[in-house]
Amino acid sequence: MAKKIILTGDRPTGKLHIGHYVGSLKNRVLLQNSGDFDEINIMIADAQALTDNFDNPEKVRQNIIEVALDYLSCGIDPTKSTIFIQSQVPELTEMTFYFMNLVTVARVQRNPTVKAEIQQKDFEASIPMGFFSYPISQTADITAFKATTVPAGEDQEPMIEQAREIVRKFNSIYGEVLVEPEILLPKNRAQLRLPGTDGKAKMSKSLGNCIYLSDSEADVKKKVMSMFTDPNHLRVEDPGRTEGNPVFIYLDAFATDDSFAEFWPDYHNLAELKEHYERGGLGDVKIKKFLNKVLQAELSPIRARREEFERDIPSVYAMLEEGSKKAEREAAKTLQEMKHAMRIDYFEDRDLIAEQAKRFAEKYKK
Ligand code: TRP
Repeated sequence: MAKKIILTGDRPTGKLHIGHYVGSLKNRVLLQNSGDFDEINIMIADAQALTDNFDNPEKVRQNIIEVALDYLSCGIDPTKSTIFIQSQVPELTEMTFYFMNLVTVARVQRNPTVKAEIQQKDFEASIPMGFFSYPISQTADITAFKATTVPAGEDQEPMIEQAREIVRKFNSIYGEVLVEPEILLPKNRAQLRLPGTDGKAKMSKSLGNCIYLSDSEADVKKKVMSMFTDPNHLRVEDPGRTEGNPVFIYLDAFATDDSFAEFWPDYHNLAELKEHYERGGLGDVKIKKFLNKVLQAELSPIRARREEFERDIPSVYAMLEEGSKKAEREAAKTLQEMKHAMRIDYFEDRDLIAEQAKRFAEKYKK
């Protein structure tokens, strides 16, 4: 049977937050421990991060260890998953160069994720070439490992679609070498994207509305207790809205029936709690205290594991180095197959050498 291989990754531009956790990290750990996959590769996408942070390599440099610690503390286990750094696998860059021939400028311009980012970053007037080509580089990340499965958020769908097109084009021109990947989206709708603690659509470092996996217990509590809720829910007696209310969205993502049994047995489940809030007579503080308990229960083992790894940082870098070497061996194999299919593996090509030698030998035959 064909192998099932995962490749996924994150740009190291900041510490990871609970949105990353429910949206992807938690699921990666489940996938890792499911035994359903033959190979799991998790990439710290520093080269991609540089495409829009080329003027601030220090930011990327500082955040590699943060992301690695976030991975390890969530339970990504380097004995089961290969964790590596993108820039340390130069084969990816070489593959990107050949893939560039298979994509038009117009096609990248139509990529909705690229389009949105160009607007966000004010690149409209002049788009750096490196940034523009990152979907192609991302195709290399995926195909170098012959990944069948890319666990990622919805925003990555256009990237995977573009990768599939490049794979089909490569295979049809040069022969069947590469594997078409499929995206694996988070199952739970609430986990697709957590809003910020201020109610803004997205958690973002610059808005200061994130709860980080590396936050202390006190920080988490402070952030939860000052969360935005329903602005019209002024008095306890008032009916409240749960829809679009970030406290309830977080509960949707984190609270289970067991959380109620453990921390708030007055209710059996979230539906009952929501009903009470909507009816009126339930204050925000009580709900925030519950959310805090639910979050702390999830985050405290992560925090404890993080501390273990933080006490031995050189080992974390050694793990990344080993992972990067292993990833490079895999990528080199695929690149070699690609070059063979493209017939640009000249020095391995005995026929080519013999053929050319024969052609020139004719010249001197008398
Ligand atoms: N583009 C992804 C992000 O912004 C990171 C990434 C780089 C990635 N290469 C990848 C994700 C390959 C999945 C597969 O988060």
